Amino acid sequence: MAGLKDKAALNDGVKMPRFGLGVYLVKEGAEVENSVRYALEAGYRLVDTAAFYKNEAGVGKAIRESRIPREEIFVTTKLWNSDHGYEKAIRACEKSLKLLGMDYIDLYLIHWPGLNRDDRLAAWEAILKLKEQQKIRSAGVSNFKPHHIEDLISEHGVTPSVDQVELHPFNSQTELRRYAKEKSIIITAWGPLFHGHLSEAPATLNAIGGKYGKTGAQAVLRWHLQNGISIIPKSVKKHRIIENADIFDFELSDEDMKVIDGLNKDKAYGPDPDIMDFGFVNI
Ligand SMILES: NC(=O)c1ccc[n+]([C@@H]2O[C@H](COP(=O)([O-])OP(=O)(O)OC[C@H]3O[C@@H](n4cnc5c(N)ncnc54)[C@H](OP(=O)(O)O)[C@@H]3O)[C@@H](O)[C@H]2O)c1
Repeated sequence: MAGLKDKAALNDGVKMPRFGLGVYLVKEGAEVENSVRYALEAGYRLVDTAAFYKNEAGVGKAIRESRIPREEIFVTTKLWNSDHGYEKAIRACEKSLKLLGMDYIDLYLIHWPGLNRDDRLAAWEAILKLKEQQKIRSAGVSNFKPHHIEDLISEHGVTPSVDQVELHPFNSQTELRRYAKEKSIIITAWGPLFHGHLSEAPATLNAIGGKYGKTGAQAVLRWHLQNGISIIPKSVKKHRIIENADIFDFELSDEDMKVIDGLNKDKAYGPDPDIMDFGFVNI
């Protein structure tokens, strides 16, 4: 793996960095602007936000202020559940573009499948229209199970490029990963560091990291990349933003990969996408 700027080829030909910064629960204003600035200075070239995070304006501002050409930075944002439906989805994307201060989004995701199939399918149709209009470069989904994806494909004939799901050593999503591989869908892990529950992770991870002169967090992030999973670890701390990106100068052995694989217990911290509707805050 070449390094921070290593890219995955999406099924629509767009190239997406495999590594980036997540900004869930990062406050609009100085906090998000600083996080994005630290990340860009450390070499990150992907930022993952969402309408729901209410920090798109700060993400856009920090990107502009970096003076890095727009086309060198990959911006992902997401359509919130209450904006499913064709017209609502078009308007929501336009609002995100305005807040970001950008004329296109690199990857636009349906944040959750929601419970209303008609509205979900209409949102996907809108996203395909936005792609045709070049307001977004790639169309994807998040928290979708294979049955949700199959439904989009059979209704509209277009396979999402990315599915962003909760994935970490306690919830390694092996079945979904197998399905995604078959369909050429790139999986991005949200909560790659146990979604803020790193302290619950077993000491084994620190021991594995230690063998390579790395931390447990770095060992976990490396495990994702070696599994072909793209990652968007979140931190607001400069030293951790740097630490999380310092994972391209070592390789976990097959044996260590297997030990981390063995930690799976299908434990998700987030809600089940089949029952998650509109009303949750701070999972
Ligand atoms: N699509 C979805 O439904 C969905 C859901 C959740 C998240 N996401 C996306 O995925 C991104 C990442 O997931 P996440 O934010 O839930 O969780 P995460 O990246 O797994 O973990 C973030 C937490 O770990 C801490 N942390 C970061 N680096 C660390 C390190 N090296 N050592 C120790 N602690 C560290 C952070 O604290 P500090 O900030 O204090 O360093 C924060 O509390 C989000 O920011 C968001 O962009 C998407």
